[in-house]
Amino acid sequence: MGKADRTVIAIDAGSSSIRVLAARMAGRADFDVLALGHAPSLGVKRGVVANVDDASYAIREALEDAGLEGQGPADEVYVGISGKHLASVNNVGEAKVTRSDGLVSERDVARALSAAKEADLGEGTHLVHHIPRTFRIDGYVCRRNPVGMHGGTALAEAHLVTAEESAIKDLAKAVQMAGKEIDGFVANGVASSHAVLRRDEKEMGVLLLDIGGGTTDIVAYSEGAIFHTSALPLGGNQLVNDISTMLNTAFHLAEKLLLEHGTGTVEGIDMHQELTVPCFGATGYRRFRIQYLYDIIRLRLTEIFQLAVARLKHGADSVPAIAGLVITGGVANLPGIEQLAERAMGVPARVGTLPSQEYAPETLQDPAYASLIGALYVLSDPLFAPVAPDRNGHQNGRRFLPRIPVLHT
Ligand SMILES: Nc1ncnc2c1ncn2[C@@H]1O[C@H](COP(=O)(O)OP(=O)(O)OP(=O)(O)O)[C@@H](O)[C@H]1O
Ligand SMILES: [Mg+2]
Repeated sequence: MGKADRTVIAIDAGSSSIRVLAARMAGRADFDVLALGHAPSLGVKRGVVANVDDASYAIREALEDAGLEGQGPADEVYVGISGKHLASVNNVGEAKVTRSDGLVSERDVARALSAAKEADLGEGTHLVHHIPRTFRIDGYVCRRNPVGMHGGTALAEAHLVTAEESAIKDLAKAVQMAGKEIDGFVANGVASSHAVLRRDEKEMGVLLLDIGGGTTDIVAYSEGAIFHTSALPLGGNQLVNDISTMLNTAFHLAEKLLLEHGTGTVEGIDMHQELTVPCFGATGYRRFRIQYLYDIIRLRLTEIFQLAVARLKHGADSVPAIAGLVITGGVANLPGIEQLAERAMGVPARVGTLPSQEYAPETLQDPAYASLIGALYVLSDPLFAPVAPDRNGHQNGRRFLPRIPVLHT
């Protein structure tokens, strides 16, 4: 293997599905998927581990499905994180230009970026990513790398993505109990955005929503740089709950209705068509029009879109313009979701799928896999590399991974 070659295992422990893959990374956005596995999720609610034993069992099942059980000597293991505890802040760091001829050096830029990382994140908070956004040399904005420019002071702005340490510890424990030592974490929304967003979309301003079973990951870019990362504790499970409640039918039957008849558009659909579903009550079944199902879905998804936009506005004096919306996650498979999103948000929308590539199995074209495959894009981009703890679980001199025995059953 060359220097850049390494084998990476990515684990996405979602609320609906656990997905894992192994890939050989050869360089920037250059990797081969070696193995892929999947298992129904257990013990993960709204993106966070609620029951460590159950989650660990499901993660082990997914690893076994991929043939990845046990720890390989060269493996690097990265785990996706989501949940409402994810947050972000944009922070500025400053460094004096040290060369006597006033040329900005790589060391000056690194010191400014390192200073930008030193925000007071508060107790119990884990820094997941620090992503360079913009640079300023003596007050002049310079979006690309300022190395080689002239000036006296370098300012770097970084996007810091944080997570609650307790949520991280529970996830780490579940993964360790499933037999893997973790090298770092990747925020799921950041990963999805890296996999599916185009450069021109990031320049124009774009909101990415990864709508899974229990969470909606939110990431926004403007003028080419990421400016917001967070997550809502809402997703497809709320759609299924709403259908189940409104039609008085069991959860699994509501999910079947969503998957088989759910629509985000009225175009090309006979909205008067009637469906029947078993339910509580004297007759034991309920007849309803597809229009009713559409209305339930429309209301809940519109709420999710509006809450996501409100997140961008929260606490900000002004919000950069958003030219469009890109949707990933399992709910992006809803037929017509683009039309629904466009109606709710008043901007164009598309479903984010991977560019089809020879190295990637077809399954990875499913927008539900965006955060898993996106982790590989993040890991192969030096600008986005996650803030890794060392092998003893220390970050910024503090311990954050629990030291627990690995069970081999
Ligand atoms: N065709 C479809 N129409 C509507 N919803 C769908 C469709 N296919 C899948 N879903 C929904 O997508 C959700 C699962 O998405 P996904 O696999 O991305 O979740 P996850 O990553 O496990 O969970 P999370 O990221 O929220 O923790 C489920 O709620 C499922 O009902
Ligand atoms: Mg997910």
